[in-house]
Amino acid sequence: MSENLVIKGDSKQELYDCLLPQIEALVADEQDMIANMANIAACLKATFDFWWVGFYRVAGDELVLGPFQGPLACTRIKKGRGVCGTAWQKAETVVVENVDDFPGHIACSSRSKSEIVVPVIRNGTVIAVLDIDSERLCAFDDVDKNCLEQLVSVDFI
Ligand code: SME
Repeated sequence: MSENLVIKGDSKQELYDCLLPQIEALVADEQDMIANMANIAACLKATFDFWWVGFYRVAGDELVLGPFQGPLACTRIKKGRGVCGTAWQKAETVVVENVDDFPGHIACSSRSKSEIVVPVIRNGTVIAVLDIDSERLCAFDDVDKNCLEQLVSVDFI
């Protein structure tokens, strides 16, 4: 797939606009959630200068590490803990401009400076979160929030 990914655009919005239909096409014929999460993480990492991109899946009262691209990460996060557990508990996207200012932030990598976590919601229930870290401060804004919320609503599960 990666050699077939065509990424064009000058702005972040244009890159997302280019990427989204390609992700929709990529997952359309695949029913396996893990396979789709793996390719979505790869597509995002290939398109943007993100430091870490991946999914955590809800398993009981914890999030468990799923497919990701980037350095190794913590495997389990309790509900309400860290940025991921907060996004799960609130069932809403959390944007963190500076991870040092987020109480309880779980530092998997000292190089991560800002973060966005988008819940994957099906039938009113959070079943996973998409977590993205950047080495830059304030890397995420409403463009990322809106486009990534649209992305996780794609039928990939
Ligand atoms: N920083 C996250 C933990 C996951 S890593 O960033 C991959 C958090 O605070 O929940």
